[in-house]
Amino acid sequence: MLTVYPILEKNDLASKVYRYVIAAPDIVKKAKAGQFVILRLHEGGERIPITLADWDMQRGTVTLYVQAIGKTTTMMSMLKVGDFLTDVVGPFGLPSHVEKGKTFVAVGGGFGIAAIHPIVRANKLVGNKTISIIGARSKEMIIMEDEMRAISDEVRIATDDGSYGTKGFVTTILKSMLEHKEPVDVVLAIGPVIMMKAVSDLTKQYGVKTLVSLNPIMMDGTGMCGACRVIVGDTMQFACVDGPEFDGHAVDFNLLMARQKMYSPQEKISMEIFEKTCRTQEHRETAAW
Ligand code: NAD
Ligand code: FES
Repeated sequence: MLTVYPILEKNDLASKVYRYVIAAPDIVKKAKAGQFVILRLHEGGERIPITLADWDMQRGTVTLYVQAIGKTTTMMSMLKVGDFLTDVVGPFGLPSHVEKGKTFVAVGGGFGIAAIHPIVRANKLVGNKTISIIGARSKEMIIMEDEMRAISDEVRIATDDGSYGTKGFVTTILKSMLEHKEPVDVVLAIGPVIMMKAVSDLTKQYGVKTLVSLNPIMMDGTGMCGACRVIVGDTMQFACVDGPEFDGHAVDFNLLMARQKMYSPQEKISMEIFEKTCRTQEHRETAAW
């Protein structure tokens, strides 16, 4: 039997970020905090790994936040409620390891905020004190603020332009917490790689355990292809099966950043061809992808 994955809800947020609620009952049954799914819009299409932002057991739905930055994610941004994805496969990756009796500080940058959401909730559920530091370029780009407030003992907000909360990066807030000796047992950071590196560099100075969730290029998601390899300490790890969470103090971020840019020229060409061949929104919506 052919299974497809209908889009039940779609919201257009700031900065080309879209929220999708997708019917995927087979995934919901197994979903755990920290895991991700791999999407394909159509047969033979690019595989996009997306961390689960939320799920609803009763409705059998997953909630995903996707930024339209490349060809496939731009194509996805054109889908409407009632359209289908060909594949939503998963959940992949090891669930987040939750330790009890901790003050857990989660740092979410940009639409990485969506990825920290289930992990903060899992920590709250075991009774940990949860502090969420969320940041974006400006106020309208802060996502899931209400959802984060519902599961966090405290939410602290930073915007690059100072339009909301503290002016500065998420690390501005974290640095101040550490300098003021606020109790912090574990830090989890998810967002741009440069942010995860900055958080890890900072917490290393204070000897605070730090986890980062890595999103390298992925193909199969099952540990077979090697596309998602990362260096952690002196070992090679596959983010899809050994992660996605790793010790931020041991990750080779420079290699990760270089590998993430590996296909940038091809992605640029692919996007240019897509833009040229599908000039109008109407054409894009009817184009045979
Ligand atoms: P962005 O570039 O707008 O940055 C978001 C925030 O991160 C900034 O507002 C700032 O607070 C912080 N930040 C950025 N650069 C920093 C630096 N040098 N030092 C300290 N803090 C810094 O982010 P965006 O455009 O929303 O992109 C979100 C990123 O998150 C994407 O790169 C995406 O791939 C990544 N992401 C990762 C995962 C994951 O599972 N690892 C999940 C979702 C999103
Ligand atoms: Fe292929 Fe991880 S995506 S090994």
